[in-house]
Amino acid sequence: MAARAIRTAFSQINSVPKSHGQGVLPFLQERFLESQSCPSNTRQYSSAPAVFKTPFMPKGSASIQKVTMIPGDGIGPEISQAVKDIFEAAGAPIIWEDVDVTPIKGPDGNFHLPQAIFDSMAETKMGLKGPLATPIGKGHKSLNLALRKAFSLYANVRPCKSIEGYKTPYDEVDLVTIRENTEGEYSGIEHTIVDGVVQSIKLITETASRRVAEYAFKFARDNNRSTVTAVHKANIMRMSDGLFLKCCREVASKNKDIKFTEHYLDTVCLNMVQDPTQFDVLVMPNLYGDILSDLCAGLIGGLGVTPSGNIGEDGAIFESVHGTAPDIAGQDKANPTALLLSAVMMLRHMQLGEYGDRIEKAALDTIREGEVLTGDLGGEATCSAFTKEICRRIQS
Ligand SMILES: NC(=O)c1ccc[n+]([C@@H]2O[C@H](COP(=O)([O-])OP(=O)(O)OC[C@H]3O[C@@H](n4cnc5c(N)ncnc54)[C@H](O)[C@@H]3O)[C@@H](O)[C@H]2O)c1
Repeated sequence: MAARAIRTAFSQINSVPKSHGQGVLPFLQERFLESQSCPSNTRQYSSAPAVFKTPFMPKGSASIQKVTMIPGDGIGPEISQAVKDIFEAAGAPIIWEDVDVTPIKGPDGNFHLPQAIFDSMAETKMGLKGPLATPIGKGHKSLNLALRKAFSLYANVRPCKSIEGYKTPYDEVDLVTIRENTEGEYSGIEHTIVDGVVQSIKLITETASRRVAEYAFKFARDNNRSTVTAVHKANIMRMSDGLFLKCCREVASKNKDIKFTEHYLDTVCLNMVQDPTQFDVLVMPNLYGDILSDLCAGLIGGLGVTPSGNIGEDGAIFESVHGTAPDIAGQDKANPTALLLSAVMMLRHMQLGEYGDRIEKAALDTIREGEVLTGDLGGEATCSAFTKEICRRIQS
């Protein structure tokens, strides 16, 4: 039975129409994504005016670039407005194009991303995304997954750096997880073999493994980091993780200026909670990365302060990794730090790091001083007051 299910999956792979240029996986995923009904969803984006002094201008003039902004649901509009206000205060040469990604029901009865997001990303190649709600057990499936698929965002990058003044059991954490973002256990290939028996296929390809390994070494070099560690379970999953590891080793052999190490996932988890300072850049398949990156976020204070970026071959989307926080949405209580630090990553990716450095310093100084903090950071300030304080520091 199992063999037949695998044969079915691979006959689906072989039947991918040639016109489907994005490759096998997106085609297969389409069969498993987005169906059922979608709740009606009206988003309201606040647009509090920001009044600032003359913006900071670094030496040399940077041309103005357009970025697609997906404000998202729940607290998304509040924190994305905070980012816009702070960018304005910093004089960052960015103009925003807001796009609502509420799924649209197509003639086939399935829900799809609206055309506006494809049009906008085709032009800008750069996005910043707030959190999106995923209905449980009904409505459309994960929009985050749909966006990663639609734009072939193959590497998820999450820097985890201790924030001075925000005490956690760990000090001086400074590592980056790089997660393969398109396949593995998240390929969406699942079957019921017989009642009570389901099978989920972990798909690992040489192309995707090599691509994410190459990105990990490039990231390490571009960011003055010394070591890339491949995280795997090739002792158990000899073929799938074995292929991933083989690709990492091959890429490492061509990047000898960066040290390469390899460790089992379980050993990394143990060592991570014992002493996270021993790690630098870690690269791993999709599921391991999903879990390990959240574990690492916990070391520095949680998802509210953790930025992330999804890198593709033809564009990138940076995003906060926390959810929509429906319990505080619309109350001006949200902490915009994660989205702001994601936007700082984006600026660096766009070679606008001077603006990013200035914004990051103002945000981290605000947290370190500890006088104007949102509730999740132990303070009583509103999102607007926290934002205003960061803007004040940028301009002082
Ligand atoms: N990347 C994403 O778009 C993403 C990620 C996770 C969850 N979600 C979605 O978000 C919704 C709610 O999920 P959840 O409740 O499990 O997780 P959540 O992250 O929204 O909330 C968990 C807790 O953290 C708090 N919190 C989260 N972000 C905060 C911030 N920036 N400032 C202050 N407090 C913050 C919330 O108030 C809540 O108490 C679900 O629909 C889920 O699918 C989206």
